[in-house]
Amino acid sequence: MSQVASISRTLPRPRAGLGLREGYHSPQVPVEVRLNTNESPYPPPKAWLEALFEEARRTDFNRYPDRSALALREALGALHGVHPGQVFAANGSNEVLQCVLLAYGGPGAKAAMWEPTYALHSHIAHLTGTEVVSGRRGPGFSLEANDVVQLVERERPSVTFFCSPNNPTGTAEDPSTVSAAVAASDGLVVVDEAYGQFSSWSALELVGQDVPLVVVRTFSKTWSMAGLRLGYLVGPTDVVEVLERVALPYHLDSLKQAAGRLALRFTSEMESRVAAIVDERERVAGELRRMPVEVWPSQANFLLFRPLSRPGREVWEELVRRSVLVRDTSSWPGLEGCLRVTIGSSSEDDRFLAALSEILADDLT
Ligand SMILES: Cc1ncc(COP(=O)(O)O)c(C=O)c1O
Repeated sequence: MSQVASISRTLPRPRAGLGLREGYHSPQVPVEVRLNTNESPYPPPKAWLEALFEEARRTDFNRYPDRSALALREALGALHGVHPGQVFAANGSNEVLQCVLLAYGGPGAKAAMWEPTYALHSHIAHLTGTEVVSGRRGPGFSLEANDVVQLVERERPSVTFFCSPNNPTGTAEDPSTVSAAVAASDGLVVVDEAYGQFSSWSALELVGQDVPLVVVRTFSKTWSMAGLRLGYLVGPTDVVEVLERVALPYHLDSLKQAAGRLALRFTSEMESRVAAIVDERERVAGELRRMPVEVWPSQANFLLFRPLSRPGREVWEELVRRSVLVRDTSSWPGLEGCLRVTIGSSSEDDRFLAALSEILADDLT
């Protein structure tokens, strides 16, 4: 008998406290119209891709990348009018959030958030052993400064999360709510602005070297680069230095650093895409309002709606049957019966609207 066979035994359990939580995944059902992950319907500009190919030719792939990603951070710093030392970049904004919780969360620490909100905030908190303390949003998913201050003063969280505009409700936070949290908290306040360019207000205006606040952004949505996996935050230099200590060495590859830097040459193209998506969002919202659904105002590239005559889950299944995939949020706390649709191209949105109207008309007969 071989030695390898003789050493087989029961596999070890993962560490205690991990709780074998299910990972956060939006089901990727094979369909013709995918409106479930808030991606951009538009590809990035061709000229960006050509510039990236040029850069790839010049890159020494036998060498490790610039560990400090300086050129990328300089470009991002210039975009936001801050010092490059105030920018921390990682593989998608989820990794930025993970680094924040690795550094400022962990056993004994608490992370505050207001549900319903982006599921990864609590998910990564759990994975890092951070206790989650959550409040509830009020009517229309609004968040009052008083409620925020109460929770922060009672729980003393090490990390307080906002998501503005909030996924999955589309609501943007009021500047006074975020400022009140910063004033009340002795921890770090994180404003996740994955959809920030769709909104009229950004917490970037509150960032300062002496302000315990970071603003997280991504290239996945407005920059049309979800496949690239690049995100960053802007905050005080001291916080960025801490985050650099928890990130793995050389975590950002050479090509990604170049891709992000080159993308910033195409800011006006990005802004035009954002404007087109905002127009399209209002068109889709208008069409939804003619149907038997409740639809909430959104400042992002998606809409939350609740079919009034039929359970959300059934409507989701009927949409999949018609080859349209939206996000099923119907069983999430506070979102009973709701579905979230990403704004796609006008033809994708027309397919969605036609399918939904057919499903809900079936219902009335
Ligand atoms: C609010 C929010 N933050 C962060 C992310 C993650 O973005 P990234 O692709 O940069 O990891 C998403 C993606 O859906 C999101 O909705």
